[in-house]
Amino acid sequence: MTETTNGIKHVASPLAHQTLLDGQLTKPVAGVRPIRLLPWLQVVKIGGRSIMDRGPEAILPIVDEIRKLLPEHRLLILTGAGIRARHLYGVGLDLGLPVGSLAPLAASEAGQNGHILASLLAPEGVSYVEHATIASQLAIHLSAARAVVGSAFPPYHHHEFPGARIPAHRADAGAFLLADALGAAGLTIVEDVDGVYTADPKGPEGDKAQLMSETSYADLAKVTGPLPFDRVLVEIMGTARQIDRVQVVNGLVPGRLTAALRGEHVGTIIHTAARQA
Ligand SMILES: Nc1ncnc2c1ncn2[C@@H]1O[C@H](COP(=O)(O)OP(=O)(O)O)[C@@H](O)[C@H]1O
Ligand SMILES: [Mg+2]
Repeated sequence: MTETTNGIKHVASPLAHQTLLDGQLTKPVAGVRPIRLLPWLQVVKIGGRSIMDRGPEAILPIVDEIRKLLPEHRLLILTGAGIRARHLYGVGLDLGLPVGSLAPLAASEAGQNGHILASLLAPEGVSYVEHATIASQLAIHLSAARAVVGSAFPPYHHHEFPGARIPAHRADAGAFLLADALGAAGLTIVEDVDGVYTADPKGPEGDKAQLMSETSYADLAKVTGPLPFDRVLVEIMGTARQIDRVQVVNGLVPGRLTAALRGEHVGTIIHTAARQA
């Protein structure tokens, strides 16, 4: 990329002479698949409402399972928000707070849940790390410890998209964006149901809800009812570069997370738009 003429060094850039707005022009340079930064990393998202809010009865068995998984996997454990964020949304919405003010309030609960989980795993050398550390020092932390815990919320704060009053990019979106950006080996979403159903299995039509053992982001885009993760995740999975599948598993059933990390099909596998390496 450098040229030397008459002793002057010119730095050439393949993008120097064009607008970045024209996809046809940028494609030859920007269309290349990104490298995987942490190809050995398994990302595990632990639900706030489904797991953390249940207290010891749900948290202790998961902690035990994670502890046993450490010799086998290097983990980035990301926690979501639960009941406290819902209360914050309620108070904030009543006061007319904009979505960008609500996002960090909810994110703070995801962080609290992360601190709780990290405290329980501290004897194993696991600590809670902030977003800035995840962004720039994850590799060194994971060289020192088998796992770290962080908040699954993306740090959008006042940059949250203003389309809805409740932040669209919550824990599931944040966990996926991170796993894809890091080129992780996989992402497992831990819930309190066996996977994704055709309708909310605990809703009024719950008895008719059927478990989808395998599906895709494109099929989920057609589901109009609720999903057990951020709706925007379906859209994000359509633009994925590295994570070609996500598995949603039931964290209340001992052994499911372990099996999922070993590549077994024990929940709902969702295929994304990323092509397999
Ligand atoms: N299509 C669906 N498939 C499975 N679960 C669903 C679906 N729609 C709604 N749910 C509900 O989502 C709940 C999980 O809630 P969620 O807000 O995702 O929790 P968390 O904060 O832990 O991620 C499940 O217990 C289930 O009742
Ligand atoms: Mg969920």
